[in-house]
Amino acid sequence: MNKKTMIVTSGLPYANGPIHLGHLVEYLQTDFWVRFHKMQERECFYICADDTHGTPIMIKARKLGITPEELIEKSYEEHEKDFADFEVNFDHYSSTHSEANKAVVDDIFQKMQEQGHVEVRTIEQLYCEHEQMFLPDRFVKGSCPKCQAADQYGDSCDVCGATYSPMEMKDPRNADSGKPLTRRESEHVFFKLSNFQSFLREWVPEHTASEVSNKLQEWLKDDLRDWDISRDEPYFGFEIPGMPKKYFYVWVDAPVGYISTTQEWCKKENRDWDALWKKGEADVYHFIGKDIVYFHTLFWPAMLKAGGYTLPQQVFVHGFLNVNGAKMSKSKGTFISARTYLNHLDATYLRYYYACKLNSSVEDIDLNLEDFTQKVNADLIGKITNLGSRGAQMLGKKCEGKMTSPDLDGAKLIQMAQEKGEVIAQHFQERNFSKGMTEIRQLAEEGNRYFDAKAPWTSIKTNPEEAQKVLTTTINYFRIMAIYLKPILPSYVAKVEALLAEEPYLWKDAQKVLENYTIGKFEHLAKRVESKSVEAIVEESTV
Ligand code: 2FM
Ligand code: ZN
Repeated sequence: MNKKTMIVTSGLPYANGPIHLGHLVEYLQTDFWVRFHKMQERECFYICADDTHGTPIMIKARKLGITPEELIEKSYEEHEKDFADFEVNFDHYSSTHSEANKAVVDDIFQKMQEQGHVEVRTIEQLYCEHEQMFLPDRFVKGSCPKCQAADQYGDSCDVCGATYSPMEMKDPRNADSGKPLTRRESEHVFFKLSNFQSFLREWVPEHTASEVSNKLQEWLKDDLRDWDISRDEPYFGFEIPGMPKKYFYVWVDAPVGYISTTQEWCKKENRDWDALWKKGEADVYHFIGKDIVYFHTLFWPAMLKAGGYTLPQQVFVHGFLNVNGAKMSKSKGTFISARTYLNHLDATYLRYYYACKLNSSVEDIDLNLEDFTQKVNADLIGKITNLGSRGAQMLGKKCEGKMTSPDLDGAKLIQMAQEKGEVIAQHFQERNFSKGMTEIRQLAEEGNRYFDAKAPWTSIKTNPEEAQKVLTTTINYFRIMAIYLKPILPSYVAKVEALLAEEPYLWKDAQKVLENYTIGKFEHLAKRVESKSVEAIVEESTV
């Protein structure tokens, strides 16, 4: 097996709004994957940061009457807390608004220039005389140039689905204030993506799943358009060296945050970042949503190639989250922020549910709130937790917490569970978390069948030694399931480690059997989800 250091990233969240359950589809699956590799004793680091630049952040700060710096600081604090409470365990979480990030951006840009990949051209864009700024497409509204529908955004039409440039609109105006826009010329810096066409044609299929690369080949077969990487002032971002009042477009410095955040982490850990990001001593894996594929599989590899940095080993793309079968909606109360969820429920439940839903495809996943309550209660509580708590509580009460050795049937059952470790590991490795969770759920069903058939609550009176063996099996069996669940439910499993007074579990610990061992005092592991908590979440999210 490849034993290289792994650097794993999730997309950097924008610093202008709270983390919501849609974001968490990505952060949780990345966290599962990283935790799984750590348990496999791989050197694996989870790197992320806030994405702090760009017009939306500048405008949001203006509206709030604060500086962009103040806005991004506030977001940073909220994001860090939300992630921590969802048990997303970054090795380092930083910000793209840092000196370190600027230095790497400048370095890559300099290399691009030296190699002739940069060109300056004059273009015409929509300008708001009132705000004294050029407006990005999403800040423009007007009628659709194709179907004439009124009040459409500057990039695409909700009515006929057409995509276009806002310059094609005949009545463009500021989406916010409604003020009409004028046209104005300005010099822009272009990255000549066309120079990387043949490189990308080869690179993309090797580093993305086929469903992603097939789609990308459609883009790649035509000539790639050069990429406009500059923005005029006022802009919250990094000024372009040698070009006063011109700024790098946020999508230039955002992914560079992966590198500069690793640098910061390396400083802290006394490691050589150059070895990881330049000398190829690490494999880099990006987890991203399907809306930002273009940036991560075309622009970003081209930037890294020009700059002489390590190219990603794989870009993993996932779909969006639906809630109750539809797009998240503020009026239906299904646009749920991480904090609102946490005000009513523990992260464990959502982690469990998402793991049961996630696979390696680009399909959207659905959080059906009734199904969520039902599955968590029936499976995580009813099947998994109950087995452990019944076994541990009975052993505590009736046998002073003393395990002996498994009975004959129990030994076979334990062996079967141990053998499943490989299959489950394979599913987790391939990001088919739902398949891994199905295996674990089946193990739980098997364990409950065994427990009910052996009925230790009866035999404890007639044959206490036999009952003690059954309880020994049960606890061992539950322990193995807990080890498999640890990447998904870390704090839940920490309680199992505490009950059994063991060191943090590694994947291989499932191969051990506890015999003649005294367990600790049983503490409650998890309780059922109450429908009223879910209702309260929806109510708090309804606007
Ligand atoms: O789409 C987004 O939410 C971006 N903030 C993701 C940036 S990912 C990386 F490239 F920085
Ligand atoms: Zn239209």
